[in-house]
Amino acid sequence: MKSIHLDITGIKDFVTDEDINSIEKEIYRAHDMLQKKNGPGKDMLGWMDLPSNRNEEEISRIKELAKRIQKQSDVFVVIGIGGSYLGAKAIIDLFSNTFSNLLPYSQRKYPQIIFAGNNLSGKYLRNLIEYLEDKDFSINVISKSGRTLESAIAFRTLRLVLEQKYGVRGANERIYVTTDAKKGILHDIAVKNEYEMFTIPNNVGGRFSVLTPVGLLPMAVANIEIEDILDGAQFATYLYNEKDIKTNDCYLYAAIRNILYRNNVNIEILASYEPSFRYFIEWFKQLFGESEGKNNKGIFPTGVNYTTDLHSLGQLIQDGRRNIFETVINVEKDRSFIALPYIEEDEDGLNYLAEKDIDYINKQAFLGTLNAHIEGGVPNMVINIEDLNEYNIGQLIIFFEKACAISGYVLGVNPFNQPGVEAYKANMMKLLKKDEDDEKESQD
Ligand code: PA5
Repeated sequence: MKSIHLDITGIKDFVTDEDINSIEKEIYRAHDMLQKKNGPGKDMLGWMDLPSNRNEEEISRIKELAKRIQKQSDVFVVIGIGGSYLGAKAIIDLFSNTFSNLLPYSQRKYPQIIFAGNNLSGKYLRNLIEYLEDKDFSINVISKSGRTLESAIAFRTLRLVLEQKYGVRGANERIYVTTDAKKGILHDIAVKNEYEMFTIPNNVGGRFSVLTPVGLLPMAVANIEIEDILDGAQFATYLYNEKDIKTNDCYLYAAIRNILYRNNVNIEILASYEPSFRYFIEWFKQLFGESEGKNNKGIFPTGVNYTTDLHSLGQLIQDGRRNIFETVINVEKDRSFIALPYIEEDEDGLNYLAEKDIDYINKQAFLGTLNAHIEGGVPNMVINIEDLNEYNIGQLIIFFEKACAISGYVLGVNPFNQPGVEAYKANMMKLLKKDEDDEKESQD
């Protein structure tokens, strides 16, 4: 069942029907390139088939090993960066208690999940090691290339901690590797040490890999119904393949983004009024930023968490330079049901809201902000999700992945490569190797 609805009322003052009609052909051209698999990056379209071509054996193994991880660990450390952690973190945050890592195991019913290897901070790693000292833990190291510096450093360090704690054999039973099926340093280490290994299909890029074991294993450890996610994604794959811009919300969204971009509205803010969407926004930023930002082109994807950021970036969005548009994720049904208490004295003057659901108040903040921003000159689209469940989030993942691919093609870039990421790495490696050489020289 379709549970995501795009509302474009808030762009009517900025984008005309004529604009939409005139970009239609380009959207269909992009659609054809994806269908025929003959556009740029045509070898990296495996993500489109993941929900329907499921590897049932792999899913069973993921669920089985997730149970083992739950039994053997107080803490499950997921090592990875970029596409190798953001999807899992985004979905786990959506479905877990906001304070889940602070709850006792008996209440949470799965290990604490901590992400590492997504920065080069010594403080972060040292504090993590100190935290893990008296805890049973296991590791899932995720890297498609198997040679990313951030994750490799965290893995080398934490693997040693595991070996010191449980011995080499014991550690081997607590290390789970997700990497390329055939090649790479991490792949070779996993084979040599007989670690449990999951693979990332060759034709699926990092930022499109959330529905592979990259995302599915950590999600299963957090008791998320991964098959429901895949069912929702499968339905959306079919839904968003319709070659009709009038009925296909995903294509309409991609079209409007490009129309706005051509009118120099080149910053997209993804907004949510639910704090647990924070990392979903991070996932979106990486998906679109790395896919579209190339050849001196690209919509700059950023995000805000409302109402928090109304007290920081709100002023700029309302009144600043008119080169931004907003896409708001609105979860229609909130199931927390907490009403503002009534207090006879009404010292704080809040009784006019007494007995009202906090979510109702949040929704009024959303509607008020929406109108204020549109009136202030900020085009707004709203993605309404009926309810926060796995099936619907599966749909949302495909909505954004497909929109990103179509939008990238319309923009005129290859959405599936990331040549620009290499520039900083090359410089950093040059500097690090230089240090190594200097060190050697001084020892000689
Ligand atoms: O989307 C991408 O390809 C990147 O963001 C990668 O996921 C990220 O650089 C991590 O790469 P790897 O999985 O090879 O360690």
